[in-house]
Amino acid sequence: TIVPVILAGGQGTRLWPMSRSARPKQFIDLVGDKSLFQQTLDRISDTSRYSAPIVLTNTDYRFLVAEQAQEGGVALASILLEPVARNTAVAIAAAAVVAMADDADAVLHILASDHAITADSSYFSAVDAAAAAAREGKLVTFGIKPSHPETGYGYIAVGEGLSHGVRKVERFVEKPDLAGAEAMLAQGGFVWNSGMFMFSAKAFLAECERLAPETYAAARGAVEQGHSDLDFTRLDAAAFETAPNISVDYAIFEKTDKAAVLPVDFKWSDLGAWDAVWNAHEADSAGNVVIGPAMMSNTRNSMVMSDKAHVVVDGLEDVAVIVSEDAVFVGRLSQAQNVGKLVKALKADE
Ligand code: GDD
Ligand code: MG
Repeated sequence: TIVPVILAGGQGTRLWPMSRSARPKQFIDLVGDKSLFQQTLDRISDTSRYSAPIVLTNTDYRFLVAEQAQEGGVALASILLEPVARNTAVAIAAAAVVAMADDADAVLHILASDHAITADSSYFSAVDAAAAAAREGKLVTFGIKPSHPETGYGYIAVGEGLSHGVRKVERFVEKPDLAGAEAMLAQGGFVWNSGMFMFSAKAFLAECERLAPETYAAARGAVEQGHSDLDFTRLDAAAFETAPNISVDYAIFEKTDKAAVLPVDFKWSDLGAWDAVWNAHEADSAGNVVIGPAMMSNTRNSMVMSDKAHVVVDGLEDVAVIVSEDAVFVGRLSQAQNVGKLVKALKADE
């Protein structure tokens, strides 16, 4: 079976004020009536395909992870706590070390906890095909058909066919500028990097040791000198802190010649900012998405989300109105990426 590794340490600042540092987006109900983390657990619940998951998070979110897993009736293999945030390369490497100690041939499915995915049969056939390629030593990423020149994603130039439907990665282009994204869309032959990966722990760690030795050493030390605390495993801080702050995309995938991509066509969205949340819902005939008690009058292509307060929007276009218990955001929906920067400035002011 496949070992799921769930990344649940992100802050989700661009979805302020619903996503807060005390309870970031993966733990709230943004689409549907379960949190994105719980929906991620649901997608790996088939025990004929998956074994119990490893969850990576930081100390602040350990009880949210444990509670939400328990609420969903899911037994976790382990909850690894990162002492500091060092991005995804070292976190994934640590999970690979843990999984390999248990099973030298473990195949890992790396999952973000903040994606909205329609897990239909095409999703699970993709998972099985990727697992077959992973068993042959490929480091597989799932490639999404691009629908617009998004600058928030990595792009992959798709090369020749290999096996099980996976193709060679010709080239990785992490987060291009708008002109770059438009050029790739016009040229064709590119897919979005979904940030979901599948590989054997052994193949990944061998590439990690070769291409990112500091990351490898930090992960190994952090696991070997880590210790358990109730239901949690605390990765050793002194070792973990020596890891460079780098994502798995830059540290490994851009460099390895074992990278492969499986082009897929299931519905996928990284719920990064409010425009993506708007996209993930069915809009009404005026293009509005309304979640909570709100009335839209003479308003188009907008989004309202409110916990409790009644909201009335009149005569506007392209606006996001997000009302949490103690904070309100109003801004252009199409410029929702700015929220991350604004929240950083707000925090610096406090
Ligand atoms: N545990 C843990 N620790 N998780 C982390 C950390 C960390 O230090 N940093 C990020 N993550 C989690 C995030 O919560 C998210 O689930 C996932 O790792 C990816 O990180 P993001 O910060 O969301 O990356 P991104 O969206 O900018 O870019 C990546 O994902 C895109 C698709 O969603 C890249 O892989 C892109 O190439 C890709 O297109
Ligand atoms: Mg993301």
